[in-house]
Amino acid sequence: MAVTRLISVKDVLLHNKPDDCWVAINGEGWDLSSFAREHPGGASVIIKYAGRDATDAFFEVHAAPIIRKNLSTDHLMSRIDPSTVTPGVEEIYPRCSTLGECETSVEFPHQ
Ligand code: HEM
Repeated sequence: MAVTRLISVKDVLLHNKPDDCWVAINGEGWDLSSFAREHPGGASVIIKYAGRDATDAFFEVHAAPIIRKNLSTDHLMSRIDPSTVTPGVEEIYPRCSTLGECETSVEFPHQ
């Protein structure tokens, strides 16, 4: 099995613009830059989470399989290394306060 490089919380945070929009969902970092414009629920609900964790908002309306049904895994940047989710990161990057929740929500059934 191929070794998958994990990305860090900071990698997601760097992509925090409408046209460069990565979003963390359930411990995975997705590049939603192009999908945001095609999103049936509108671009703005996705873009407001650019560079941030959208796990809670996502699961309010969606079930997990909807991601892979609509997006090729080319857009899956990688799983997020849970060890990068620390209180220190939240202090440096206040916008990512909800990323701390990745620590408890991350489940890697494929490992
Ligand atoms: C990862 C990527 C996502 C995919 C593939 C996706 C896919 C979809 C699809 C296919 C729909 C049409 C309705 C349905 O089939 O349920 C939809 C609607 C919607 N999505 Fe997403 N979505 C994604 C991320 C998000 C995120 C991050 C949010 C919130 C922050 C969100 C909020 C909504 C809302 C509010 C609707 C409208 C629901 C309605 O019309 O009742 N989605 N999405």
